[in-house]
Amino acid sequence: MLSKEVIARLNDQVAKEMFASNLYLSMSSWCYTHRFDGAGAFLFEHAGQESEHAKKLITYLNETDSNLKLQAIKEPESSFASLLDVFTKTYEHEISITQSINELVDFTLSHRDFSTFNFLQWYVAEQHEEEALFRGIVDKIKLVGDSGNSLYLVDQYIKTLLGK
Ligand code: FEO
Repeated sequence: MLSKEVIARLNDQVAKEMFASNLYLSMSSWCYTHRFDGAGAFLFEHAGQESEHAKKLITYLNETDSNLKLQAIKEPESSFASLLDVFTKTYEHEISITQSINELVDFTLSHRDFSTFNFLQWYVAEQHEEEALFRGIVDKIKLVGDSGNSLYLVDQYIKTLLGK
């Protein structure tokens, strides 16, 4: 049985993953409307992954007979300055999610909730991968510069990351 505080923190994390899903859908739409179809497809698919991260938490709550309490999700940003701006913000967002997961892990360990601590290890590994993925995209965009040809090539590269 989970403590009330752990349940509340897991519910908060559900909200954060759902916000990430909405944010990436919003960014995907911006990319499509600015002719970055590769980035649009990548972010659309990644939004689905964020939704799965939320559902994995919800499944854990269900399995532990804990109450899911869905929260209002704030409206995500929908206007961006450039493709670099989009992916700088995805990277910053992933860093904030990592911090949130780390705080959860720290809390569960210090409160001797070893089951939830163990469950959260999947998120620890996932955040490592996601930070590396988004940082890599930011680096590529910075590397090629912001001319039309370069951005077309980087958009094609981002398309190859579908499913990662
Ligand atoms: Fe669910 Fe990209 O963190």
